[in-house]
This record gives sequence, structure tokens and C-alpha cells, in this order.
Amino acid sequence: MKFDFDKVVDRRNTDCVKYDGLRDAYGRDDLLPLWIADMDFEVCPAIYEALEKRVSHKVYGYPIARECYWNAIIGWLRRRHGFAVERDELCYVPGIVRGIGYIVNYFTSPGDKILIQEPVYHPFKNVVEGNGRIVVNNQLHYVDGTLKMDFDDLKSKIAVEKPKMMILCNPHNPGGIVWTKEDLRKVAHICASAGTIVVSDEIHSDIELFGNRYTPFATVSEEASTNSIILGAPSKTFNIPGIVSSWCVIKNAAIRDGFFKWMEVNEFSAPTMFVTLATEAAYTKGEDWLDELLEYIEGNICFVENYLKDNIPQIKPLRPQASFLMWLDCSATGLKGLRLDDLFISKAHLALNDGEMFGPGGEYHMRLNVACPRKVLEKALSQLKEAVSRF
Ligand SMILES: Cc1ncc(COP(=O)(O)O)c(C=O)c1O
Repeated sequence: MKFDFDKVVDRRNTDCVKYDGLRDAYGRDDLLPLWIADMDFEVCPAIYEALEKRVSHKVYGYPIARECYWNAIIGWLRRRHGFAVERDELCYVPGIVRGIGYIVNYFTSPGDKILIQEPVYHPFKNVVEGNGRIVVNNQLHYVDGTLKMDFDDLKSKIAVEKPKMMILCNPHNPGGIVWTKEDLRKVAHICASAGTIVVSDEIHSDIELFGNRYTPFATVSEEASTNSIILGAPSKTFNIPGIVSSWCVIKNAAIRDGFFKWMEVNEFSAPTMFVTLATEAAYTKGEDWLDELLEYIEGNICFVENYLKDNIPQIKPLRPQASFLMWLDCSATGLKGLRLDDLFISKAHLALNDGEMFGPGGEYHMRLNVACPRKVLEKALSQLKEAVSRF
């Protein structure tokens, strides 16, 4: 391998949530952190070099976003995902969750209903409820060891509750599911028929694993293209969430024009100089780094699967099709809530995300972030084995 993903980087005292936020989140900081979804790997050299060169200039005035920045995003989407995007369909957003917040505020009003599919990335619910909108949950179900959409329930919730918007997680966090074209087409049809706009969060789309391919929602049908807002970013892919480098694609001018104008006049859509530099470097020079990263993550996933099967068979992982997150079914331990937290935190000294934070369907589950050197995972799993054997 050209890049060293085995290198252990000490991230403590860098003001990062994953390590320096442990005490606030878990009440203690003697835990191995395998929670919040960033990676413990150094960024690819091209990103570091672009930032280092700019930082060394020592004057940080107002930047411009040059054509090469926009072209880097457009080129990436076409090359990696066959997603054809025009410049005027693209806008910068300062973060996916903030983007969802802007969209919720711009397109809906307090008291409106917004559909999500729990268990799902918990800020979807927070943004909806925090802005005085009402969550309608089309819960995902476990079928044959994976999570599936319930289309009968989706149809009836859309018909009865009449949500203004659906927030889709494509690929899905925490399950790592790559929804099929057929699934997405059905969602598009059900929502378009009722005038429910689909906001598709595609932040995990580049972390495609084990031969699985993600489908950009807007590409599955005319209904999807004309009735959707797509959000994505190089942030998960290239481990730069601290740079806040997300973007938004809206194909339909009738949806797009007013919103992009509103983003522009409020200067929400003006990227900082670090955004343009890091994004361009990532999308134009980071591909070989990403390909090696994906291989390393697949290796980590196989390592966890084998370790659990051989040593802790009570915990069953769902193999992610995309993302560096593993959804662990702990139901055979009989533990959930505080008792499951006690096993992982107090006994095993590990910080994972408790599945319950992702809503109904998350009980008895833990979310494990495997984007770390393998030896960290080895240590974590041996601590878990020891804790389970004592339990
Ligand atoms: C599905 C999903 N959306 C959004 C985010 C966060 O994106 P941002 O930091 O750009 O708000 C995450 C981070 O884990 C995520 O998993």
C-alpha cells in the first residue's frame, strides 16, 4: 500500500469531538473512542499540501471560488457515480446538517410534517423537531438480517399525514445500506405523486464497499430528478469534516432558483478558502488514496466480523455496503439501554454510539466506527471480549 492507514495518530488535545469530547459525551475520558463518524487517518497528501501551501502565505483575505472548484465536484460526480450535474444546479452548503436545517426552514413552516425513516442518523429528527416541525416516522424493518423500507407504511403515511418533505439517508446511516434503484424509484414515485419533496443525504456515497454501488437518488427516474434536493460532501470520504465542505444539487429550476438565491443573499453559499482548496485537491488528486482507504476499511470490517464470530458470537454485525460504520446487533446479550451502555462503557471501556439514539429500531444495537488503524480495533475487541466473558 502507498498510504499508511496503520499509523496511529494521537488526536488528543486537538479539540476534536471524538477524543476531547469524550468526557462531555460519556462522563469519562478513559475510553477507546469508536463513535462519532470521522476517521483516525491522516488526510491524503494532496489535501495537506494544498492547505499547507495556502496557510504558509500568511494573508487570509476574502477568497473567490474559482471554476476549478465547481468543476472538481462536477467531475467527481460524473466519474465516480455517473451523476451528470450542471454548474447552475450546484451550490455550496456549510455542512449537511446545516443544509438540511436551511432546507427545512426555507421549504416548510412550523407545524408541517416531515417524514424520516428510523432508525436513522439522529440529527434528522433533531433538525425537524428543533425547528418546530413534526416527525412522521416510516420505520425501517429488519428482514433477513438487514434493514428494509416498508413501502405499504410509506404509502399510507404519505397519504394520511401528508408530509411536506421526506429526508432520505442514501446510503443509510447507521445500517450502511445502499438502497436499490428499485427502492429509490418507489420512494420517488410515492413522494412525487403526493407533492412530498425528497431531501436525499448522500454523504456516505463514496464509501462503497465489497462491490456495492450506490445510486444517486436524482438519477433513478424523472420523478426523482424533478422532486429532489441532493446533499453530499467530500467530508466523510476524505476525512475533512472540520473543513465543512458540503454541496447541494437541485435539478429542478422551480425548486432551485428561489432557494439558491436565498442561500446567496444570506451568504450561506460562499465557501471559505479552505473549502475550495481541500475539495479541489480531494476530488482531483485523491482517488488513489480513496481506493486504498476502501480496501483498508473492507479489511477492518472482515476483521471485526471474524473476531465477533469466533469470540463474541452474541454480537452480530450487519456488513455495511457503504460507510465505515458497523451496526452491531447485541440482542443475544439480552441487554439494551443503560445496561448495554454499561457493558460497553464501564466494563469494556469503549465509546460506541448506542443504537437507541437513532430512534425506534435502534434498541439492542450499537454503532461501531471502524475507520481507525486495525490495531486499535484489535484492542477494542479484546476489551469487549473480556467484558462479555466477565458479564
Ligand atoms: C448521514 C449523515 N449526514 C450528515 C452527517 C454530518 O454531516 P455534516 O458534518 O456535514 O453536517 C453525518 C455524519 O455522521 C451523517 O452520517
